[in-house]
Amino acid sequence: MNTMLDMTNEIGIWLSAELDEVSSVMSGHLQNKHPEVNSVCSKLAAYKGKMLRPSLLLLSWRATADCAVVPKNVVTAAAVVELIHLATLVHDDILDEADIRRGAQTINSLCGNEAAVILGDYLLSSAFHLCSTIKHVELNILLGEVTNTLCAGELVQLSHRNDVDLSLDSYFQIINDKTASLIAASCEMGSLLGGGDGGIVSVLRNFGGSVGKAFQIRDDLLDLLAQKIDIGKPAGRDLEKGKLTLPVIAMLAKNPDLKPAVLRAISNHDRDALRKLLLDNGSISSALHEIKKLVDGAVAGVRGEISNDSSEQLCNLAAQLKQGI
Ligand code: FPP
Ligand code: MG
Repeated sequence: MNTMLDMTNEIGIWLSAELDEVSSVMSGHLQNKHPEVNSVCSKLAAYKGKMLRPSLLLLSWRATADCAVVPKNVVTAAAVVELIHLATLVHDDILDEADIRRGAQTINSLCGNEAAVILGDYLLSSAFHLCSTIKHVELNILLGEVTNTLCAGELVQLSHRNDVDLSLDSYFQIINDKTASLIAASCEMGSLLGGGDGGIVSVLRNFGGSVGKAFQIRDDLLDLLAQKIDIGKPAGRDLEKGKLTLPVIAMLAKNPDLKPAVLRAISNHDRDALRKLLLDNGSISSALHEIKKLVDGAVAGVRGEISNDSSEQLCNLAAQLKQGI
């Protein structure tokens, strides 16, 4: 997402340099005395993405801190959240049986499910180990809470496969837990390390929570509407896995008589039929409207309390979620 940020202005240049530092902390920490481990880890290069979570952590730190020089702990914390994110992606690709992510082959397709499970575990334990080196009890507790929440979100989602009675509240709870919780925690960690008071920390945590939900709704819409080539990962996988997402759930809440048609589309893996139902019912535009509402709320929350170049950059990042579907 931050590829669309202006990386040539002062703050963009600052962020790029710090993200490079984050990447080297991550690779340094993953380095192992066993070449076999390093060989599997080297395949993670393909998973490197936009570094959204470390960017949010760094910008939240900068929006709240008084000093200009980034302490090492902040870069370390940014590496921790990206390691957790990588662990979830490696595991998620096994669950989704995905062969491609970000345009490259997934770990499960390259090395098999067994190696991918253990690599995800290695990333997760490396993240906890790295976090413990910061010696900040609150961060450790937060990290334990957020990884529990992520796993619970995935388990709840799994138990609702093919469930055409899934409520909107349950969907929002699932996306909050599986996606938004880590994004919120990234903003929270950055602002805690920046020395923000309780009010500011909670404003930034809420910002991350709303941005995270908007991000997942957008991701779900792309899975429904885009082609594999455009998103660098399989499209239509939610339908194939019986995962119901916002436009479908909202449409069924208004038109329960469409449940058999949706179930048919799921069992036939018929994305075109589902898309037609959603378009005919205005459900895609309602989901786009929900993204806009979440982003606008997130931006207003931040602008109401903080005003500096870093908080504006956070708002610019959030605003990008409204573009390009
Ligand atoms: C992507 O959703 C998945 C997540 C955001 C969370 C995945 C979490 C786990 C698999 C639990 C494991 C947790 C840890 C801590 C290792 P998606 O499938 O909708 O997105 P996609 O389109 O990118 O696949
Ligand atoms: Mg997935």
